[in-house]
Amino acid sequence: MKDLFRLNNQVAVVVGGAGGIGEAIALGMGQFGAKVVVASRSMDALKQVAKRIADETGVETEAFQVDVTSEDSMKGLVKNVEDRFGTIDILVNAMGVNIKRDALEYPMEDWDRIFDVNVKGTMIACKHFGRVMKKNMQGKIINLSSVRGIRGFGGGNSAYCGTKGAVELITKALAIELAPFKIRVNAVGPALIITPGTIHIKEKPELADKYRSVIPLNKLGAPEDLIGASIFLASEASAFVTGQTIYVDGGLTAS
Ligand SMILES: NC(=O)c1ccc[n+]([C@@H]2O[C@H](COP(=O)([O-])OP(=O)(O)OC[C@H]3O[C@@H](n4cnc5c(N)ncnc54)[C@H](OP(=O)(O)O)[C@@H]3O)[C@@H](O)[C@H]2O)c1
Repeated sequence: MKDLFRLNNQVAVVVGGAGGIGEAIALGMGQFGAKVVVASRSMDALKQVAKRIADETGVETEAFQVDVTSEDSMKGLVKNVEDRFGTIDILVNAMGVNIKRDALEYPMEDWDRIFDVNVKGTMIACKHFGRVMKKNMQGKIINLSSVRGIRGFGGGNSAYCGTKGAVELITKALAIELAPFKIRVNAVGPALIITPGTIHIKEKPELADKYRSVIPLNKLGAPEDLIGASIFLASEASAFVTGQTIYVDGGLTAS
């Protein structure tokens, strides 16, 4: 029987792949047979991740630098991937930043920075990788949203929630606009995932309990929890799915 989830010989680019959720998704793409490119600003970290994926899965990997806030930098990444692998099948936009500040004191330079990376960066990546996918008349794009893209949260998250809400609607709009070119655009929306950036929460039992208590499955997420939904959205298994966000959230958004 045809394996609907295999990604053999496809080229997957994970932007923001130098750690955390992006690294786990990139590893998953390799485990399911894709050639993997990881990209972000930190070349040393990217090279380590690319080597780890090649060692553990045996697929071809590559690390390229990109700053998602710059169109020229993104064009350079697209060219590097095409020169190295000849094509691009899957784009995962796993970059992102959060700058928590009280809403009434929110510094607008921080607001601009978070929107530059999370929203403009996502659009720049979709735009330039989308052009190649249009030429090839096929492609899959997966954007990283968050439960904070559909739910409001306090604690200084007004800008972050705004960026993720924008990512979700950009995903829907691009799904419609790019459908004639057989490009599917979807998103994954995690709840709290324990990464190097959020490990301090797990290390404080009271704080960890607070986060866990709102999750029906009663556990904190791990980066590996994002692999299944991402492989589904990247593969033939989701051939009739576009414009959707899959919440990988232990049931948080079910209530
Ligand atoms: N962890 C969570 O609890 C959680 C929950 C819901 C959603 N998310 C979302 O999931 C995604 C990954 O989160 P994470 O926790 O894995 O974050 P992370 O570990 O901080 O990774 C974020 C990545 O973004 C890259 N990045 C930041 N600015 C960039 C820029 N200008 N150009 C290119 N790359 C840039 C960073 O790489 P460089 O520094 O090398 O550039 C880094 O690899 C984000 O979109 C985040 O909002 C996370």
